Order: sequence, then structure tokens, then C-alpha cells
Amino acid sequence: MNYQFKVNKTTASRLASEDFNQLGFGKVFSDHMFVADYDNGAWKDLRIEPFGYLPMHPAMSSIHYGQSIFEGLKARKNEKGEIIIFRPDKNIERMNKSALRMAMPEIPIDLFYQALDELLQLDHTWIPTGDGQSLYIRPYMFATDEFIGIRRSSKYKFIIFTSPVAAYYSEPVKVYASDDYVRAFPGGTGFAKTAGNYARAIQPVEEINKRGYQQILWLDGIDKKYLQEIGTMNIFVIIDGKVITPSLDEGTILPGVTRDTVITLLKEWGIPVEERRISIDEVADAHKAGVLEDAFGAGTAATISQIKAIGYKDKEFTLPAFEEREISMRLLEAITAIKDGKVQDTHGWLRVVSRVSV
Ligand code: COI
Repeated sequence: MNYQFKVNKTTASRLASEDFNQLGFGKVFSDHMFVADYDNGAWKDLRIEPFGYLPMHPAMSSIHYGQSIFEGLKARKNEKGEIIIFRPDKNIERMNKSALRMAMPEIPIDLFYQALDELLQLDHTWIPTGDGQSLYIRPYMFATDEFIGIRRSSKYKFIIFTSPVAAYYSEPVKVYASDDYVRAFPGGTGFAKTAGNYARAIQPVEEINKRGYQQILWLDGIDKKYLQEIGTMNIFVIIDGKVITPSLDEGTILPGVTRDTVITLLKEWGIPVEERRISIDEVADAHKAGVLEDAFGAGTAATISQIKAIGYKDKEFTLPAFEEREISMRLLEAITAIKDGKVQDTHGWLRVVSRVSV
């Protein structure tokens, strides 16, 4: 289906005032955003407009009760000047699964692609070209009913904006496995990319920061010993040549797009990879036996981020020197090359939007 969009272009682009050498992550926003309103069972008033503030009713239900979901994906330009988006099919699939769990409407897939394509074509000059940089794309949806009470909202907003970014982590991170706080239980919302899953990490992470760690490594809520995920990315550990990552079976971790990419590549490379329960004690034993060879996080924002050390109770498991970690280094290089369009896309992972001038 072809949707009709209104396009209101900015008359005052901010592009020239941004310094792409100082991007950081999530601080700079491109000129336009896509906005759609859901009402009476249908997505309406589809529009691209200048990026800017949104009017908000004080009783807007998502602010009070958390019916709010989001996604993150990245785009670059290839050497031909085409806009290439990495695995957007996985994002819209996950967004609609999150929507179902949070009692929100689905986004039609063709609406998502049309909005994405038109927005990126309009703001293609915001796609950064530096090493390690990308255009981060943030689709999100939230309930807008003006109502106090817990029930499915009847009105929603779906927005996509974009942000030129550099690496989320500029160096390897130290993570702390906490048994004081819990992110998700079976039957909960752990698999959904919903705002509250991230809000609950902020205070524990602040505590961890004071002890010299950057991120929390969530443990399961029942035994408080099985690894789930890191606050900003999925976790992988390499023990004695085997790559191990928590499985998706319990519905307590985010089914990460980069996680899936890592598993696919490792299998193709003939490197053993196991999706299963892994306890913090197994990590501790591997460290003691000298076979904890690598640990890294995988996420859209973080790409592949090596872990420097894992803290747990009063112990710290330090990992080998970064350059000795062949598998995480190889994954980072391979995934970056695919996302940048520098190697052939043998998996059909890239959506090529259009040809534009470089
Ligand atoms: C992403 O990786 O896209 C996320 O949404 C995680 C967040 C830390 C930026």
C-alpha cells in the first residue's frame, strides 16, 4: 500500500551548525521527523515535519502508565552514495511484538518502510561518513489518551527521528553483575523494547558507577545467578573456545538484532556458539581456570563492545588484553564492514533506499 504523507520541510536547516567531529551519542538530531497519529483503529495524519517539540496533555497516559515502546537501527551511505539501512525488517518485527505485549496497535510494515525511506531521503545529508559513525534511527510509539486509569489507550503517536552518532562506548566497559536488582522475570516484559525496562536500570547503574563499573549485568530474578543482559546490550562470553549467550527461551531478554547477527556470523565461521543458561558461577569458574577468553556486549547502539572486567559481589573477573581477543575484534570488523556496505551483502541484511549524491 502507498500511504499519502504531508511533507513540511524546514526552512532553517541546522546541519551547518553541527560539528560531526564531536558527535558523541544521542545529542544531535537531524532536521525532520515522521509523525503519525492512531485514532479510532487507524493510523492517520501521516506527516514529515521539522524536528521539534510536541504538545502534550498533562494526563497523557503513557507518561503515567508506561505504554511506550521504541526501536533503534542504523543507516550509512555506501560507496555509490546509496542509503543503506541495517536489518530494518528485524526492528519492525520486534516493534510489533513489543506492541502486542504492551497492548498497543501494530505499525503496518509498509507504512514503516515508507516513513523510513522518505525521512532518510530528505535528511540524507545528516548521515555521517566518519569511521565508527552512523545515522541512528529512533522509531517509537506511545499512548496519548488523556485519561487517568489503567486500560488500553485508544490514541497513540508513532514517531521516527534520526540522530547522527559516533560509538556509544568509546572504550571497553566494566560491568557489574548485581543480585540486588532485577530486570525481568518469565512472563514479564523483558523481551519487549519498552521504556520501563531501561528506566529501572538507571538507579542501579548510578550505584555501580560509584564503584568504577559502567554498566549493570542483569541476573535472573528467581535464582539470581543466570546472566540475562547488560543494561545497554546483550552479553556474550567465550569460555574455552565456545561462545555462549543467554537463550531467548524464557522471554526475559531483548532479542537483539546485533545478537542475531553475531550468532549467524559465528555459525558461518564454524565457531561453536551456544544459546543457553549461563550462570555467574560458571563465569567465575572459567576465570579461575584461566579459560574465560572474552566477553563482549552486542547491540545496535553499542555494536560490539568488549568487556574489560565483570564484577560480582566482592570479586572482579578481568578479561585478557583487547588485542588478544580475536573473535570480538573479528565480529566488530565484519559487522562494521557489512553495515558500511564495504563487503557484499550475502545475507540480504541491507535495505538500499535510493541513490543520492555522496
Ligand atoms: C540500542 O542499542 O539501539 C538501544 O536502544 C540501547 C540504548 C542504550 C541506546
